[in-house]
Amino acid sequence: SIPAMQLERLLQKHGFGTRKACRALVRHERVAVNGAICDDPFAEIDTAGLVFTVDGVDWPYAEFASLVLYKPAGYECSRKPQHHPSVLELLPLPLRERGVQPIGRLDEDTTGLLLITDDGQLNHVLSSARRKVAKVYLATTKHPVDQGQLDKLLAGVLLNDEPEPISAAAAEVAGENLLRLTLTEGKYHQVKRMVAAAGNRVEALHREAVGEFALPADLKPGEWRWLAAVDLQKLGYSP
Ligand code: URA
Repeated sequence: SIPAMQLERLLQKHGFGTRKACRALVRHERVAVNGAICDDPFAEIDTAGLVFTVDGVDWPYAEFASLVLYKPAGYECSRKPQHHPSVLELLPLPLRERGVQPIGRLDEDTTGLLLITDDGQLNHVLSSARRKVAKVYLATTKHPVDQGQLDKLLAGVLLNDEPEPISAAAAEVAGENLLRLTLTEGKYHQVKRMVAAAGNRVEALHREAVGEFALPADLKPGEWRWLAAVDLQKLGYSP
């Protein structure tokens, strides 16, 4: 049997407001189901492969909202941003209303791959220290990157407030002042602190990949797209 859901409940689940507000959207003929206007808020809609439309914008039926954002500089990942707008402001209102949150945090000045979801299990899997999910960063450095710095990063550096030295899973020269660093933790300012401890300084930081999932090449800073099943597989997640 195909899973079905009442249209007004379906809209509410996707972040279009209270049940009452969703009912009004439908009654005002602002909602289409698979291309045809539906003005019955209680219509039972088949959700398999469903695309619905609100005010001309198409939405896939999504049990969970999981997406990738190309984070631009100048945005904060925290729940209550202090000095800069939140990355969530780059998303359409219904997604924010669903309660999506960034998985982990990038600094305000860091750019690149940021995963955002309302799927608690995905968040948990990718945040779990035990799983050691690889995060690949490209750092622009103040001084040229040399072998001595790579050796230190790979052998492990001692950071303030950490009981044990922390080592990079991989470190390589990617250009004269470019360092590619793979980490399996997500500690506060970890790349910047590790690079400083190795005798250099991060001037700009970009995240290229998480697990086997790379920032899609067709995304521009500030743009996002839905994660597909194949993306979730690359992240080691198959619900
Ligand atoms: N390490 C940092 O120092 N900053 C980030 O944003 C991510 C990793």
